[in-house]
Amino acid sequence: MSKQRQLKLGAMVHGVGHGWGEWRHPQAQPNASVNFDFYKQQTQLAEGAKFDFVFIADSLHIHEKSSPHYLNRFEPLTILSALAATTKHIGLVATVTVSYTEPFQVARQFASLDHISGGRAGWNVVTSWLSGTADNFGKTEHPPHAVRYRIAKEHVNVVKGLWDSWEDDAFAYNKQSGEFFTPGKLHALEHKGEFFSVKGPLNIARSQQGQPVIFQAGTSEDGRNFAAENSDAIFVSPESFDEARAYYNDLKQRASGFGRDAQKLSILPGIRPIVGRDEAEVESRYQQAVELVGIEDAIVALGRPFNDHDFSQYPLDAPFPELGDLGSNSQKGGSDRIKQLAKDEGLTLRQVALRFSRPRRDFVGTPEQVADALQTWFEEGAADGFIINSLLPDGLQYFTELVVPVLQQRGLFRDEYSGSTLRDNLGLDVPANRHTTPQVQEKSEAVA
Ligand SMILES: Cc1cc2nc3c(=O)[nH]c(=O)nc-3n(C[C@H](O)[C@H](O)[C@H](O)COP(=O)(O)O)c2cc1C
Repeated sequence: MSKQRQLKLGAMVHGVGHGWGEWRHPQAQPNASVNFDFYKQQTQLAEGAKFDFVFIADSLHIHEKSSPHYLNRFEPLTILSALAATTKHIGLVATVTVSYTEPFQVARQFASLDHISGGRAGWNVVTSWLSGTADNFGKTEHPPHAVRYRIAKEHVNVVKGLWDSWEDDAFAYNKQSGEFFTPGKLHALEHKGEFFSVKGPLNIARSQQGQPVIFQAGTSEDGRNFAAENSDAIFVSPESFDEARAYYNDLKQRASGFGRDAQKLSILPGIRPIVGRDEAEVESRYQQAVELVGIEDAIVALGRPFNDHDFSQYPLDAPFPELGDLGSNSQKGGSDRIKQLAKDEGLTLRQVALRFSRPRRDFVGTPEQVADALQTWFEEGAADGFIINSLLPDGLQYFTELVVPVLQQRGLFRDEYSGSTLRDNLGLDVPANRHTTPQVQEKSEAVA
């Protein structure tokens, strides 16, 4: 009998929180984004509940109106390297941009994290939506959206190529003969492309996972194609069940179109559940979350997918402003969606800002109600799992202690880890090294 399909769960550990107001909650630790004990405790909660992975988001440009977490936070690979030493099973997923890094360095950093953690590294590939990032990296301009996805494709291909520099049995370590490695099993990449020129080989071997797992979150046309072609798991933040299901079907179809096994690709909506033990606690916790989002903060937050555009210049209760192309060189998918929704529903600026900042009701409820909603999305073709983002300081604790046991009782989520790598958690195969696949061997035998 085939094993029941199970949910995948990730925890977004996001310091003081996503928005501008969470740090003011009475129980919040305002320095959480640079507090190692906070990250350790959240990651241990997630691992105790058998989550597949923790995820650390990132960006590389701030200004005075950036949210508290953006203003003062850990660099993802550094914090994950520290967390690797305090955990055993949970995957460790870091955002790193392709637009402001060199593939050699990224390949090396993730390979190192993969070795340090015994095969638990994942890379969330982003293209960076904030144009001010260019000013921090000596660039005269932020690459246009379409160019960023061309960069992404080449960057990821180079990184994957570098990760295969060493065949798995390349290191002979033969003390008697003095052979440290077998020369024929080391491969230079010799890449010369549109954006990168990388000779290789990489100065670190493949790890237990073969290659770290690739995550992505494209929502625009280019982003969707890139995600469907290149990633193992996809983050998305849908507005509704219908939108989630449409995205799910679209991405699975695109993946099949690229000749991939779409079943292996996990689509993971990011959600912000609010759980209470009973109806009264649910309502009180929901109200606490709503109170953390004032209209001024919601207006600043709305600017985020539009390259931090200042929406305070428009009248709050007039129809949503006409923005033309604004946002299309930033988070294109997200900003297009906001403009479309405002138009379709005839909303004011205030209504749009609150709609996108206040917690939605889909995943608010008692443990059974939240589990029901997760199950519906999972079983009715809208998700393969979820990334849990906490609105209240004890949000992850409530979710792991109250909702996860219900999912486990229903057979929807694991009781124990069955392997030790992130690929094991997500049910992904270890990719064969490109230099040792049967076709390559046959070819080299034919040449010999
Ligand atoms: C759950 C989730 C997490 C994301 N994390 C990051 C991140 O850490 N850094 C970043 O620059 N973008 C992040 N993004 C934004 C995406 O990379 C992407 O820019 C966005 O979805 C817009 O899609 P597009 O690039 O196709 O226009 C995230 C998106 C989602 C849905």
